[in-house]
Amino acid sequence: MTDFEIQRDVPLAPLTTFELGGPARFFVRAGGTETLVAALRWAREEGHGAAILGGGSNLIVPDEGYSGLVIHMALGDIDFEDSGRVEVGAGVPWEVVVDGAVTRDWAGLECLTGIPGSTGATPIQNVGAYGQEVAEVIERVLVVDRESLVLGELAPGTCEFGYRDSMFKREPERYVVVGVHFALRPGGAGTVRYGELEKQVRPSASLGEIRNAVLDLRRKKSMVIDPDDPNHRSAGSFFLNPVVTRTEADHVAALAVAEGLVPSIAAVPSYPTPTGEVKLAAGWLIEKSGIAKGTRRGAVGISSNHALALVHHGGGTTAELLAFADEVRARVADRFGVQLKREPRLLV
Ligand code: EPU
Repeated sequence: MTDFEIQRDVPLAPLTTFELGGPARFFVRAGGTETLVAALRWAREEGHGAAILGGGSNLIVPDEGYSGLVIHMALGDIDFEDSGRVEVGAGVPWEVVVDGAVTRDWAGLECLTGIPGSTGATPIQNVGAYGQEVAEVIERVLVVDRESLVLGELAPGTCEFGYRDSMFKREPERYVVVGVHFALRPGGAGTVRYGELEKQVRPSASLGEIRNAVLDLRRKKSMVIDPDDPNHRSAGSFFLNPVVTRTEADHVAALAVAEGLVPSIAAVPSYPTPTGEVKLAAGWLIEKSGIAKGTRRGAVGISSNHALALVHHGGGTTAELLAFADEVRARVADRFGVQLKREPRLLV
């Protein structure tokens, strides 16, 4: 007997922003940690895998679906304390948190607006955009240990945050994130340090102005989900921006100049990292390897507004999407010798 309802053969495509893939053999909606723990225990006892589903905005579901239990996180509590602390359940839509913070004039999240998905997913890949990352304002991550099924709290130091990376991403079988506590800055200054954003707003802009400017930029790149936008079925960036050695970056730049792709080395987008390496722009590499925005392969293709987003136009399959992703990856590797890594998670 279980104290929660297990559904069978639940279509997952409508729960993902790609709108692709098959059903979950078993499916449960977890509105609290008790249900989550009971569901994890049930899957273990029955010998099934258990996968966690948040907002479905960074997920690729195979056409054959998932053969185990999908647990849909619906923990929905959110509490703004006067000190600038915000305690948020994993299932709360991320924009609700950003909106509450900006409305209260609490700094720290204003650049992270327009990002689809749920709050519980944000520490996993250390969500970042326009010069901010969630890791900068995370105070605690609440987790359920998948082995002991015990609830615990982790300090940011143990989460090993990096660029689109964390211990949760590297060890996905260890914890389920059930909540996040953020420490924001009431009345604090907003973050204006991303080149594109600096062109739009003054350094002293209000949090609301910064947020609106970010939303405008994201909309122009089809990075805000809008059902009327033909590029809307996507997972945002499909590849990580590759972090390479200085020598590799110099090679890419020299090649681009030699082949007449750019007028000078300075025209190649690259960003130094704190570790002395160089982050290249995957969208740029894709375009310069000859895959234009708007390229289509049947029902899938590249967004017409941003080369880093793969899109599904409707009526396609995950197999088509993954085959096209392989084609893009191979083109960039052939042209520049750089290996792109997929950013969204594949549900297997
Ligand atoms: N570029 C191109 N062609 C394109 C897109 C970009 O040449 O089609 C060049 C631009 O000219 C620019 C550089 O690439 O020089 C960087 O482009 P952009 O500022 O658009 O950012 P990005 O590196 O492509 C990253 C994040 C986005 C985030 C933006 C803004 C990753 C993988 N992606 O994209 O995050 O919104 O910066 O901060 O780090 C996401 O992860 O889903 C996502 C949308």
